[in-house]
Amino acid sequence: MLNKAAVAALTTALFSRAYAIDAEIKVDLQTRYQSVDGFGCSQAFQRAEDIFGKYGLSPKNQSYVLDLMYSEERGAGFTILRNGIGSSNSSISNFMNSIEPFSPGSPTSKPNYTWDHYNSGQFPLSQQARARGLPYIYADAWSAPGYMKTNQDENWGGFLCGIEDETCPSGDWRQAYANYLVQYIKFYAESGVPVTHLGFLNEPQEVVSYASMGSNGTQAAEFVKILGQTLEREGIDIELTCCDGVGWSEQEAMIPGLQVVGSDGKSAEDYLSVVTGHGYSSAPTFPLSTKRRTWLTEWTDLSGAFTPYTFFADGGAGEGMTWANNIQTAFVNANVSAFIYWIGAENSTTNSGMINLINDEVIPSKRFWSMASFSKFVRPHAQRVKATSSDASVTVSAFENTNGVVAIQVINNGTSATSLTIDLGQTHKKVKTVVPWVTSNDYDLEELTKIDVKQNSFVTSVPARSLTSFVTECD
Ligand SMILES: *[C@@H]1O[C@H](CO)[C@@H](O)[C@H](O)[C@H]1NC(C)=O
Ligand SMILES: *[C@@H]1O[C@H](CO)[C@@H](O)[C@H](O)[C@H]1NC(C)=O
Ligand SMILES: *[C@@H]1O[C@H](CO)[C@@H](O)[C@H](O)[C@H]1NC(C)=O
Ligand SMILES: *[C@@H]1O[C@H](CO)[C@@H](O)[C@H](O)[C@H]1NC(C)=O
Ligand SMILES: *[C@@H]1O[C@H](CO)[C@@H](O)[C@H](O)[C@H]1NC(C)=O
Ligand SMILES: *[C@@H]1O[C@H](CO)[C@@H](O)[C@H](O)[C@H]1NC(C)=O
Ligand SMILES: *[C@@H]1O[C@H](CO)[C@@H](O)[C@H](O)[C@H]1NC(C)=O
Repeated sequence: MLNKAAVAALTTALFSRAYAIDAEIKVDLQTRYQSVDGFGCSQAFQRAEDIFGKYGLSPKNQSYVLDLMYSEERGAGFTILRNGIGSSNSSISNFMNSIEPFSPGSPTSKPNYTWDHYNSGQFPLSQQARARGLPYIYADAWSAPGYMKTNQDENWGGFLCGIEDETCPSGDWRQAYANYLVQYIKFYAESGVPVTHLGFLNEPQEVVSYASMGSNGTQAAEFVKILGQTLEREGIDIELTCCDGVGWSEQEAMIPGLQVVGSDGKSAEDYLSVVTGHGYSSAPTFPLSTKRRTWLTEWTDLSGAFTPYTFFADGGAGEGMTWANNIQTAFVNANVSAFIYWIGAENSTTNSGMINLINDEVIPSKRFWSMASFSKFVRPHAQRVKATSSDASVTVSAFENTNGVVAIQVINNGTSATSLTIDLGQTHKKVKTVVPWVTSNDYDLEELTKIDVKQNSFVTSVPARSLTSFVTECD
């Protein structure tokens, strides 16, 4: 963080010089697109415990990290937490323990549920996040417990017993799995944390050594209906999601199955609120073929070099600019309503998380500041609006919040500072000033001095290789 004098000097240097105008940005609040649910991350596979000091994070820094992630005032104000519904029979290693770790005997036996009010650290994390204002908890299962599956193992793929073409000696576990997911929701609700979104698959295209379960679109549709009808019978109001495909194209490939209309006149899509996909094997660059809202529910840099302080060096997969661009593209080109990174904070020196914890050290990466640059100013129910740039190396996105505040994200991938006029067009409220917040190699979401807005237009400049959020202030 800079002191006041340094901020003033930087502001003068960046914004007050009389530049020739390089580029023009036009915002059009009358052309409106998707609405926003928000931004967030997961702390699944016991990563929630890292935040609570498993590897030495002090109480002071535990609060600091929670504020960075969940406080709108002191941090990014993430609005979505993606929790893993555990399928493991223990909590060793990084396992997420199940609420029914062992088979009750058969699909029709009385279930033997257990609730530890902990959920691999995710339950207390949910409480802490909610206390800081987080509205949405997305509970998602990577797999059913092993005894419900064809391979008798929560790991290594396999299918839910009873789903199309998949039978087991132990019987048909489809309804038991739906009841199990509903019971998980009930445990959270009874303990004071409403789960708002529910999913039952994770990357069903992958057969991996950790919790995983296969499904194609037809099989997913079959279970969506069973789960949807179970929730209806139980009178539980929750947003159902599907299918967290490993990539955007892989998720697209599942959609025809979800749209098949059955003899009851309904498709699985009718039961869904959100279609969810990941960014790994194919990035979110196009809208999915669904009438439902869509969320990018997981993506990260799994293999890049540790680059916490790099906003831009060479366009590497872990750099802040890369993620600013990933987020902007997902909203502008892929029509998503939410962007959820993989891990928020974890004790490691990889790029899997946005915040690296090293024992009691806290390192918010540039990826985190890029996410925060969107999340802090684009709040739930904001609507994306049209925004265009006259310069190809300057890209833009814009959103209008329900309180009339407009947030404009300008990414400058040029090699020098670029002067801009930004025209807000016709606004719903009179805009007096805008506040620029800059992230670059030098700055971490640094708040600069306000700019006066005259006749809904202002002149400014953005640094080379930077992300700037311009946030309007009304009367
Ligand atoms: C517990 O789960 C593991 C796989 O995660 C499996 O190998 C083991 O057999 C299970 N134990 C019991 C008692 O079911
Ligand atoms: C229910 O599961 C618990 C472990 O969660 C186990 O200790 C207990 O024996 C089980 N009860 C029955 C009746 O199977
Ligand atoms: C999904 O798998 C089932 C079972 O193997 C098969 O019958 C069905 O045709 C598949 N659906 C699609 C869309 O590939
Ligand atoms: C974008 O998503 C919304 C739902 O949030 C949908 O109504 C709209 O048709 C989608 N637009 C495109 C171009 O797919
Ligand atoms: C920014 O430009 C560099 C070349 O200077 C390119 O490698 C990189 O992919 C660009 N990044 C974005 C987000 O467009
Ligand atoms: C925490 O992460 C750091 C960086 O990866 C590692 O050196 C350290 O050993 C970890 N702490 C513990 C207690 O495992
Ligand atoms: C908290 O994290 C900061 C930043 O990494 C570090 O300097 C400090 O030593 C940590 N511990 C406490 C108690 O502040």
